[in-house]
Amino acid sequence: MDTLEQLLEQNKTWAKSTNYEKPGYFKELAKGQKPEILWIGCADSRVPPSVITGADPGMLFMHRNIANLAVHTDAAFHAVLEYAVDVLKVKHVVVAGHYNCGGVHAACSAEPAPDSIDHWIQHIRDIRRMYEKELMEEKDPVKREDRLVDLNVTEQVRNIKTSSTIKKARKRGQQVALHGLVYDTGTGLLKRVV
Ligand code: CO
Repeated sequence: MDTLEQLLEQNKTWAKSTNYEKPGYFKELAKGQKPEILWIGCADSRVPPSVITGADPGMLFMHRNIANLAVHTDAAFHAVLEYAVDVLKVKHVVVAGHYNCGGVHAACSAEPAPDSIDHWIQHIRDIRRMYEKELMEEKDPVKREDRLVDLNVTEQVRNIKTSSTIKKARKRGQQVALHGLVYDTGTGLLKRVV
């Protein structure tokens, strides 16, 4: 059995056992969603938000891309943010980065990445340049990259804070808390950076 076939089998088992343990669970979920958290994470397969936080279906509205970027020119991200804040009225927006991030690693490399990726990670290279002095004080390249992961999260939270969606929400008195987290792929733990 290949991996996808295996996942489809596991899905059947999960749906059956969930329905058995919590009768009416899916019918209730099908009525609509009321998540309190928008989670912006990396596309990396090692950082599945629901798994690492134990969140149930319906708890996290989500947007994932390479290196958890929340950039002003990304229409897909802005549609997610706008829907989360204006329609779903989420109370929290979380940007979650992670150590050993391939996107951040590529941005630290002098070698260009494949075209689309290289274009995308220019955003991280910009952050690296903004904090060059601080980053260069760290002599250990692994720790320097980890620091850039932290800084990338901080900057993405700043991008969200200055977005028209958040500014408008705050102007009308809607409370939306912004948070920055970093997941340590080596320990499985999340820490707060913002
Ligand atoms: Co990553």
